[in-house]
Amino acid sequence: MTSSALATFTLHDGGGVPLVLLHGFPLDHRMWAACAEHLPPGIRAIGVDLPGAGHSDLDGFQPSIEHTADRVYRTMVAGGEGNAVVVGHSMGGYVALALAERHPGFVAGLGLVNTKSTADTEQAHAKRLRVAAAAESDQTVDAVLGMPADLVGGTSAKHRRHLFPLLDSWIRAQSPAGVAWAQRAMAARPDRTAVLEQFDAPVAVVVGAEDTITPLAEAEHMVRAAGRPSHFSAGDAALTIVPGAGHLSVVEDPQAAAAALGLLHAQVVAHH
Ligand code: MLT
Repeated sequence: MTSSALATFTLHDGGGVPLVLLHGFPLDHRMWAACAEHLPPGIRAIGVDLPGAGHSDLDGFQPSIEHTADRVYRTMVAGGEGNAVVVGHSMGGYVALALAERHPGFVAGLGLVNTKSTADTEQAHAKRLRVAAAAESDQTVDAVLGMPADLVGGTSAKHRRHLFPLLDSWIRAQSPAGVAWAQRAMAARPDRTAVLEQFDAPVAVVVGAEDTITPLAEAEHMVRAAGRPSHFSAGDAALTIVPGAGHLSVVEDPQAAAAALGLLHAQVVAHH
């Protein structure tokens, strides 16, 4: 079985080591567009559609975050990229950690945005399998249409109402098969906290202060794992807490996320 390249999109022009942006569930590369616009000049940003999302196909492989990471890696190498600052939002963060584990030479820096290094609880695992089964049996994405209420924080729910129709249109554009595949892939992933303990390059962790899906405690857990003094100089594993934003801080406050990623990129350039 062969695996085709994933769809990629240049979201910000520049040169040197690119930022590779991996989206969360059930979205695609478009969630990064506003954030990429606010990046400092000169940073190239490449958005990727993960398997079964946006313009990327499912290639017949079993659902797997590890396979997804390998596909991102092969897509980037085929595109001529020798390394990258890999930034993942939520599900994209699970993929970023798998990339750091499986292709450490490729990952020049890690941006972990509203995500976690821990595995699912039994309850979360069972819920994913129910959502996957519903998407497959109904052949719709109805099971995830309610997610925006949990994705954005309380502040956005009150003051950024325009995000709801936008998120709804992004989610309705996904395929039931892609939604089911991603849920099964996430359900099967292990705890990757140890990857952060081993990772020897800059790390930035970003979390919305109002995130209830991957809350601040998960972000702090990752910073602690990444920040071992034997591996890091002070400030390497920076934690940015975005006020007034929830799980989708990148969309709710794109400027704040872009500032954190700009600093990460500068650290990577200085580290080289
Ligand atoms: C996401 O935003 O990617 C999902 O909420 C992640 C998850 O379900 O664990």
